[in-house]
Amino acid sequence: MDFYIDIKNIATEELKHVDLDRVNVHCSPPDFEPQRQYYFMAKCRQIVKSESKRLGRPLYACSVTFGCQMNARDSEKLLGILETAGYTVVDSEDADFVIYNTCTVRDNANQRVYGRLGHLGAMKKKDPHKRIALCGCMMQEQCVIEKLQKSYSFVDLIFGTHNLYKFAELLCAMFESDGMLIDIWKDTDAIVEQLPVKRKYSYKSGVNIMFGCNNFCSYCIVPYARGRERSRGAREILREVESLAEDGVKEVMLLGQNVNSYGNGLADGISFAELLREVEKVDGIERIRFMTSHPKDLSDELIGVMKESDKICRHLHLPLQSGSSRILKLMNRRYDKEHYLALALKIRREIPDIAISTDIIIGFPGETAEDVDDTIDVIRRVAFDNAFTFQYSRRTGTPAAAMEQVPPEEVARQFDRVLSAVQETARERAKLLEGQTLPALIEEVNEKDASLVVGRLSNNMIVHLKGTPDMVGTIRPVTLTECRGFYYMGDMEHG
Ligand code: 5AD
Ligand code: SF4
Repeated sequence: MDFYIDIKNIATEELKHVDLDRVNVHCSPPDFEPQRQYYFMAKCRQIVKSESKRLGRPLYACSVTFGCQMNARDSEKLLGILETAGYTVVDSEDADFVIYNTCTVRDNANQRVYGRLGHLGAMKKKDPHKRIALCGCMMQEQCVIEKLQKSYSFVDLIFGTHNLYKFAELLCAMFESDGMLIDIWKDTDAIVEQLPVKRKYSYKSGVNIMFGCNNFCSYCIVPYARGRERSRGAREILREVESLAEDGVKEVMLLGQNVNSYGNGLADGISFAELLREVEKVDGIERIRFMTSHPKDLSDELIGVMKESDKICRHLHLPLQSGSSRILKLMNRRYDKEHYLALALKIRREIPDIAISTDIIIGFPGETAEDVDDTIDVIRRVAFDNAFTFQYSRRTGTPAAAMEQVPPEEVARQFDRVLSAVQETARERAKLLEGQTLPALIEEVNEKDASLVVGRLSNNMIVHLKGTPDMVGTIRPVTLTECRGFYYMGDMEHG
């Protein structure tokens, strides 16, 4: 082919329509984004193509996600870039290129990565052409990088949370370098838009509305791993939601570590509640969810917008962490037991059909059985519909790591008490909806029984019902015939 496109001259909105095989990669790369990354994707395509020709088969890539919804969304971006760079995306870690998108919120997430990495290393011994990459929150920790350099030297590429948008450029550099390539940034102001994304689901998608966190809860490593809070411009968010809707997406989940402080620092001064109102206006979007809310700054305006809305789902994830005011203070959560209770009960009063879920940490330094009594008191009074319970994990560099730790046996004992309390309220809440007919978004065919499909109610509960694959992605009225603890069996209404 002798007709070359100079990517520098392509407008950002047009980039996704460009035939990358015709892009000139013999000139220098653009020094502005996202054109620069498209240049490197074009360059990768040539490398991948020639390797694929040599092997007589496509090159396969696989990404494994650890951790939260934010990471799941980041992985969709990684896969979008890999596919655009010429790889065929697969689920198997037997692939030519494997990337782990890591989490470090609790130590067990780190241990899982080391364990699986051991297996990958063994696979690479048999197939030296295999390339292994690591990215995400865990890579922002210096001690992790040192350990990888020392004991996992077979890893080809390591980058962090702030330079994920440079993945195509790093891939190219990896192909051209021998040994481990490491690129970790401490922080960034950059938010690069318009890179390719490969969505896992056709009918629902996460949408980042902000990055990082400024709260510095004393146990939490996220502000160190994800950096300072930065909100994405409302116009860019709405443009993304509109284009998702055009693509057939029915449900969006707005993502941020603390969505209630969305807009701080933005020139247009838009609040989260106002952003929700705008998202609600997008035709084709039928359901809106968001994660995560911090109880210290959840506004009455937000409760009002949720109450009036037909599209915002009847579900609020409101992390409690502890019900003890003393522990909350040590956690630097900036609310107390009374504030949380008053807020949760106000939400229940204003929006009676809402489900409230939460996160609870057990075994924070200095936590006593009496503190846990307070947590259980809040669980019973709010009657959580669902709760994620975590044993406290000591994270190097956080203030709580230096406090006196609770012995593991004591943590385990208190954990069991909290778990039974949340299971009890969750069961009671679930039972209340038995017999009702509610709209469910059909999400997938049941993995164990192909005659069943799995639906999700507005309140985030799951219902299994007879159905067929063509129903996936549609919203149907389903009668909840039987409550089985934390999920329902249901029937579709006909006619
Ligand atoms: N130990 C245990 N759980 C933690 N979380 C965050 N940091 C820690 C830690 N060091 C939990 C919090 C948060 C959720 C995402 O993870 O409950 O809401
Ligand atoms: Fe961590 Fe607290 Fe920020 Fe949540 S709000 S990410 S728990 S520091």
